[in-house]
Amino acid sequence: MIRSVVRGFGTSLPKRVLTNRELESMVDTSDEWIVQRTGIRQRYIAGEGETTASLGEAAAREALDRAGLTPADIDVIIVATSTPDNTFPATAVNIQNRLGMHHGFAFDVQAVCSGFVYGVTTADAYIRGGLARRVLVIGAETFSRILDWTDRTTCVLFGDGAGAIVLEAQEGEGTVADRGVLTAQLRSDGAHLDKLYVDGGPSTTGTVGHLRMEGREVFKHAVGMITDVIVAAFDATGLSIEDLDWLVPHQANRRIIDGSAKKLGIPLEKVVVTVDLHGNTSAASIPLALATAAADGRIKEGDLVLLEAMGGGFTWGAVLLRW
Ligand code: ACO
Repeated sequence: MIRSVVRGFGTSLPKRVLTNRELESMVDTSDEWIVQRTGIRQRYIAGEGETTASLGEAAAREALDRAGLTPADIDVIIVATSTPDNTFPATAVNIQNRLGMHHGFAFDVQAVCSGFVYGVTTADAYIRGGLARRVLVIGAETFSRILDWTDRTTCVLFGDGAGAIVLEAQEGEGTVADRGVLTAQLRSDGAHLDKLYVDGGPSTTGTVGHLRMEGREVFKHAVGMITDVIVAAFDATGLSIEDLDWLVPHQANRRIIDGSAKKLGIPLEKVVVTVDLHGNTSAASIPLALATAAADGRIKEGDLVLLEAMGGGFTWGAVLLRW
């Protein structure tokens, strides 16, 4: 049976760090409020010349280097983003060109903060279906460019960055002890369109627009949706929560992360948290956290790792994989 195994990983962050203290001089907020409500202490903000494609390219190059591969070895590039360089063509095609890759194919997926989970699920389907051998999955965002910097309820929450992994087909026995993606569970429900959205677009206002969020409403749904999909992932594999080595959640808010872990009985020592350093980087947050924990040696070969996210739409999902 074919499994999609993580062969390499990489990250890229803009040069500029924006601290909570600096935000205090921009809007009516405080470091204490931001840390207490969200756990965020700083975020990275893209400067001149830094875009979603340039950050994604850098993360992709690091993932390829770590895997000992070149763009010639890749069949497909999938980019999860809600902040593309252009309305079209896809940022994935832009990155394909930056990598000097002119074979195979590349496309974007748009599921806001769940984008990376959707991207990995799509890549896994291509690999298991025999349509691709190696897929580069990138989560890359420049949310700073769609923030209303006068709105303290949103501008303190988000940051920019990118993370990437290379998924590769490997033959295995098809058991839960094999490396690779074991199951993916995706959900969406458009009934919640107006709780987290961007108030512009080519077909409506003809503008890019700004992010708008009813934070309290999103918070209310988040823990329930996340825990449901995690339970579904364990049910699908017959594994139990006690088997888990690492939870790598979407990094939106420390209170949502801790609340979900607590509800599921996952000890906080098994949870990877980078929201304090990166803020909410939407589709980039999971690969940034995953690569951080893999690079510092926390996540090791054979570990059972759970990725989960919830975001605008709403969209939500979980991927259970053996590293
Ligand atoms: N600084 C100081 N005060 C603030 C700030 C700020 N930056 N922002 C809001 N406040 C005030 C509000 O105005 C309000 O004041 P009031 O009581 O006088 O009206 C008070 O703080 C409390 O506001 P709440 O919105 O109730 O605060 P809450 O505890 O809900 O925290 C937060 C807000 C952090 C946004 C929280 O609701 C949250 O994290 N929601 C979920 C966001 C999320 O997870 N999104 C994930 C998906 S992201 C994606 O898909 C792109």
